[in-house]
Amino acid sequence: MKNDIKEVLFSEQDINKRIKELGMQISKDYEGKFPLLVCILRGAFMFLADLVRKIDIPMSVDFMAISSYGGKTDSTGQVKILKDLDTSIKNRHVLIVEDIVDTGLTMDAVTRLLSTRKPASLRIASLLDKEERRLLPIKVDYYGFKVPNEFVVGYGLDYEERYRNLPFIGILKEKIYRKE
Ligand code: PRP
Repeated sequence: MKNDIKEVLFSEQDINKRIKELGMQISKDYEGKFPLLVCILRGAFMFLADLVRKIDIPMSVDFMAISSYGGKTDSTGQVKILKDLDTSIKNRHVLIVEDIVDTGLTMDAVTRLLSTRKPASLRIASLLDKEERRLLPIKVDYYGFKVPNEFVVGYGLDYEERYRNLPFIGILKEKIYRKE
């Protein structure tokens, strides 16, 4: 599996260190607010699991699974909910947890949907921010790392469902996804 990686961008250590910082910041910002962390499946499962262990204030978690209509180039940014939240978010301080914000279409659709449910606040935490690819002006409130426009995998991020279990984040070799 590691042979398919061209370059390691963030090691396990880099990720742990950064998540600790994010956890401290989130704990400070949400003190007394009992935030609800909403994990967007599947890519964010690992980030969520590590992040919540670095948050030392009372909080809760819920999960949402979505798929985009018409693929990544669909400018409508419509998403289909495969699994909705079990928790009511009305008057809750909601923090969406993502692995990567790329074009921003997913986060645009999710934030628009969740806003209709009248949360007390709604913010985004994303481990990776690929700003260069943004099609919509989505602001990531808490990001781990900015990433270049490369095919990144590992630590939850996949290529055809593989590589999610790598403990680091790396750039996938082109020959893996450029099949003739
Ligand atoms: C990835 C990622 C984000 C989305 C970001 O999900 O987890 O949800 O793409 O891209 P965007 O900003 O261009 O919308 P993916 O559809 O690959 O599903 P996964 O989380 O199950 O891997």
